[in-house]
Amino acid sequence: MSHTEFSGYDLTKKINQAKGFNSSETIMVDTEVKTTYDQPNAKGYFGNYGGKFVPEILIPVVQALEVEYLKAKEDPEFLEQYHSLLDEYVGRPTKLTFADKLTAHYGKAKIYLKREDLCHTGAHKINNAIGQILLAQRMGKTRIIAETGAGQHGVATATACAKFGLECIVYMGAEDMVRQKLNVDRMQLMGAEVRCVESGSKTLKDATNEAIRDWVTNPENTFYIIGSVVGPHPYPMMVRNFHRVIGDEARKQILEKEGRLPDYLLACVGGGSNAMGLFYPFINDDVKIIGIEAAGYGVDSGKTAATITKGTPGILHGSLSYLLHDKNGQIELAHSISAGLDYPGIGPEHSFLYDSKRVEYNSVTDDEAMEAVKLLSKKEGIIPALETAHAIAWLEHMMPNTSEDEIIIINLSGRGDKDMGTISENL
Ligand SMILES: Cc1ncc(COP(=O)(O)O)c(C=O)c1O
Repeated sequence: MSHTEFSGYDLTKKINQAKGFNSSETIMVDTEVKTTYDQPNAKGYFGNYGGKFVPEILIPVVQALEVEYLKAKEDPEFLEQYHSLLDEYVGRPTKLTFADKLTAHYGKAKIYLKREDLCHTGAHKINNAIGQILLAQRMGKTRIIAETGAGQHGVATATACAKFGLECIVYMGAEDMVRQKLNVDRMQLMGAEVRCVESGSKTLKDATNEAIRDWVTNPENTFYIIGSVVGPHPYPMMVRNFHRVIGDEARKQILEKEGRLPDYLLACVGGGSNAMGLFYPFINDDVKIIGIEAAGYGVDSGKTAATITKGTPGILHGSLSYLLHDKNGQIELAHSISAGLDYPGIGPEHSFLYDSKRVEYNSVTDDEAMEAVKLLSKKEGIIPALETAHAIAWLEHMMPNTSEDEIIIINLSGRGDKDMGTISENL
């Protein structure tokens, strides 16, 4: 595994370049380990990352969203509506399952699975879609747009729109529409219009570009439901908060089952929403936290989506964060076998947690993820999503260094039904 290391000076230079500052305007970047993880600040920065890098026309739109979200998150009526939908419609709380066969297979630490695959629609994404649709309603928006890679966020958004009777348009890359056809059919069945994106790599990055273009064109009536902890402030904070129910539940459940907190948390990282949802409620605890990116064919192959491992700071889709881009700032094409991790960026909070060394980031290849799909299916009778399989695959690396009295919680972010086409081809 190769890490991109920066000295404080290099990091400052990179961030100032990304912000377009010239040398007389440069800001000093704080590269000290942070003692507080209570982020972001009022301007939407997690340490040095985040912000609101959007076209002028969207500034009032994101500001209005921020004002409304800050009110809603303190409003007992809003919270009651959100949590009751999570209970009655999504099926929360999800289980924390002890993976006894997988634990016996490695003969080391005890492995628990946080079962987001059991959520309605089959992945964690619905927690956030429900939260954002309630906000859209509160703001009187009538038209919902979303981007999707693996289709799970698109399905979650289409589901929420059907439930609330709102118009729904989902942008999806042409390549992803082929590899996640089942999810395209599901979205259409629920009444969403799926718009095929033929530009660039025809994957998640390009779908997001098109969604932002639509948003800029229709800022008045349109609410953009972003599907991960990415985008301009307040999205990274808001999406994290809508997913923190994962970690809040896991914390309570492990205390009930084991009488103590886990030693490790493990989750896959695309944009990073399932990971932040699990990590955030443990961020100030003495728990080792590990995020796993998609290495694709390998981090040095040129066909990878390992953004933290291979990227440098830059601006994409409204925020400053680690990014796969070349010396001229051109975004590089990401590659992963899993459509949901096939993205050249990452949420700004992850960049902050990486720089401050609170979270360790590693990556596994497409082949390792496929092996993990087989392992979990055979050992536990649970077919994981290809995205989730990246977290499972890291067990091969970490288990030899654990001991029988330790505990690991893995976020099982989604089920693998949507991936059966790709899985069958690779078996
Ligand atoms: C099941 C599943 N897990 C993980 C992800 C990655 O997204 P994030 O990193 O935002 O959790 C996706 C994205 O579509 C997904 O469908």
